Order: sequence, then structure tokens, then C-alpha cells
Amino acid sequence: MDIFSRKSTISLTCPKRITPFLKEEVKALGYPIKRTRKAGLETEGTLKDSMELVLSLRTAHRVHYLVDEFRAGDADEMYKKANAIHWENYIEPSGYVSITSFIDNPTIDNTQFANLRCKDAVVDRIRTKKGSRPDSGPSLDHTVLFLFWRNTNCRIFIDASGESLSRRGYRSESHSAPLQETLAASIIKATEWDGSGHFINPMCGSGTLAIEAAMAGLNRPAGSLRPNFGIKHVKGFADQSWEQLRSKLNQQRKKDFPGKIIATDRDPYAIQAAKKNAKTAGVDHLIQFEVCDFQETPLPPGNGVVVLNPPYGERLGEKEELESLYSSIGDFFKNKCTDYTGYVFTGNLDLAKKVGLRASRRFPFFNSTIDCRLLKYELYDGSRE
Ligand SMILES: C[S@@+](CC[C@H](N)C(=O)[O-])C[C@H]1O[C@@H](n2cnc3c(N)ncnc32)[C@H](O)[C@@H]1O
Repeated sequence: MDIFSRKSTISLTCPKRITPFLKEEVKALGYPIKRTRKAGLETEGTLKDSMELVLSLRTAHRVHYLVDEFRAGDADEMYKKANAIHWENYIEPSGYVSITSFIDNPTIDNTQFANLRCKDAVVDRIRTKKGSRPDSGPSLDHTVLFLFWRNTNCRIFIDASGESLSRRGYRSESHSAPLQETLAASIIKATEWDGSGHFINPMCGSGTLAIEAAMAGLNRPAGSLRPNFGIKHVKGFADQSWEQLRSKLNQQRKKDFPGKIIATDRDPYAIQAAKKNAKTAGVDHLIQFEVCDFQETPLPPGNGVVVLNPPYGERLGEKEELESLYSSIGDFFKNKCTDYTGYVFTGNLDLAKKVGLRASRRFPFFNSTIDCRLLKYELYDGSRE
């Protein structure tokens, strides 16, 4: 059987607390949910399906296609069993392979050693079968294998993503404390913004939220800008199938959406960076940028969401100085954002209290290791404390 048509487990990884959003995305694409984890989930599909997943998913970091699983007590046993896998069917002898891993086995105290033994098993197999072996090293821009080894349970996956899928390829300019693209995409999913209302993003920084909103509003595949994925370096990968898939996904793209996207920041350098990133992403025509204090952000008539990611003292500025900023967010919401739903994404819950409005919902997130919340405020008349 063609290796691209064999069904297997596909494990998807994402940052902690993003699993519920990833689950919705995977279900919407029509894939089954076999198991959920704190930082990911498992579905089922072929390597060909992995192509669709790496191109489409907004909230996943990696797409791991299971090649084989076996029991291994120590490195010698792992080598022997990994060496029995038909790697010559997956990797060209002229290729390049890299191993990443998660290892929790009592006989292994050095992950690099386990990776090296796994790499030896793969390249030795190919040399025996084909007479020459692929190169190997740390670069993730060719074939990437992921070794999961917990106690005696060993699983070896092809990493169809290669580099993390959060690297969309549009962010050449970053400004103060940018959100990771996958986190921004999850925040947008939490707001349930669907392009029909407006998406207002004061304090936009380098524009990640506005750009991800534009891409989601257009239903444009998250991976459409990226030229490279691990799957492209698997033996038998066909450019033709890839292009067919891209054009199928492109047909599902919208040309426009009714809502406006407005992104503002008081820092002209932030707006400069955001504009450049939006241009690289090909969505600059869909976002109205302005340099202004957040309170001067224009709010078009109609409804929608106002999403702010203010500084929260962990990385930028001091908490005391930020108290009045958070309190003025509350005033801005109350006085200017009636008809909208307000959201504040912050890693400082004490500062969030200064907003002075009752949050109707709190979505837990992590920004890197910082415990964060996305707080939702219903701003229509009568909802205020
Ligand atoms: C945490 S960063 C936002 C990062 C952004 N989400 C991204 O992904 O790049 C906070 C931003 O708030 C802006 N800011 C702080 N106080 C402001 C104010 N009073 N009015 C407008 N922008 C402000 C800063 O210039 C900074 O760009």
C-alpha cells in the first residue's frame, strides 16, 4: 500500500488550555476525536490527511503521524525495534533526517542519547537496504521524526509539520511582547467572532490578533503562506496532490466579510510593524490601522467584539503604573463600546479587577508559562454593576 494512504493515529499538539479549540477545529474538518490530552489530542487519518491538517489548523503546533509503536525497556531494545521499521519506504537515502523526542524512561538520563540511537536505527536501516544513508542533524526543515517513549511504550511518528505550525510566515517584525499566532487564533475562536460583526483591536502591538482575525474571516488556511512543512520531505510526497489540496482549500476561501477590522496602538513603531506583517500576510487591505491612544479607537456603528491585550506587568511596564490603564479600559468599555462585546486578555488578575466591570466569562490560557485569562464583558446597557 502507498504509505500516504495508510490510516494510523495522528497526534496533534498544542499549548496547554488550547485543546478545546483544537478539538472544535478537528471536528469541523471531519476528523474523529480519539483521545484528548492537556496539550493536544489524537485523531485518525493518513499521511495525506496530515497534509490537510498542517495546512488548515490554526490552533495546533504539530501534526504527528504514527509510523509504529512497540515496547522497549532500554536503548538497545529501542534501536533493534526501530531498526526493523521499513524506513526506506519513508526517507530517501539522499535525504536529511532529524529526531525530536519526549522521553520518560528510567534507563535514559540523556534525551540526546536516545535521539542518537533512534537516528542510528533509522539511517542504519536505510544504508543496509539502499547502500547509502541520509544525512542527519538538528535542522527541522527536512524529514522530522518524533520519538515518544514513556516507560516501555515507544511510538515513532513522522512530524508532518516540521517547524511549529505557529510559524505562519508573516511575522517578520515583532514589537513588544507579541502573542504567539496559535494563541491569538484561539483567543479569536473564544470570542466567536465570525466576520459578520466588527473586530476592534486597540493596543494591537505587532498586529497578531488582527491578522489572525483577517485570515480566519477569509477562511484562509493558516498554513497558506508557508513554503515548507515536514511532510514535503517524506518519500513519495507528490507536489500534484499538494497543489490539488491547496486549490480545494482555496476554493473554500471567502473574498471578503461584512465586519471591519480596526487595529490601533499608541506606538507608531508597533503600527509600522503590524502593517508590515499584515502586508506579508496579504491582509493589509482588510485592516484599518491607526496610531492613537486606545480610547480614541474608532468604533463603527453596528456590533462586534473589542479585544484588548494590554501590557500586564510581567514583561512590560510596572503593575502600579498599569492600574489606571486597566481602570480606563473599564471606562472605555462603558462609555464607548455599547453594542459591542469586550474582551481583555491579561496575565494579571489583580490588574483585571481594576477594569471594574463584571466578567461574564473567563477563559483560562497560558501565554508561554504565564497563567492568563481572556475576560469577557457584556457591554450592552443594563449589564453593568
Ligand atoms: C502586550 S502588547 C500587545 C501585543 C499584541 N497582542 C501582539 O500580538 O503583538 C501591548 C500594547 O499596548 C500598547 N499600549 C499600551 N498602552 C496604550 C495606550 N494607552 N493606548 C494605546 N496603546 C497602548 C503598547 O504600545 C503595546 O504595543
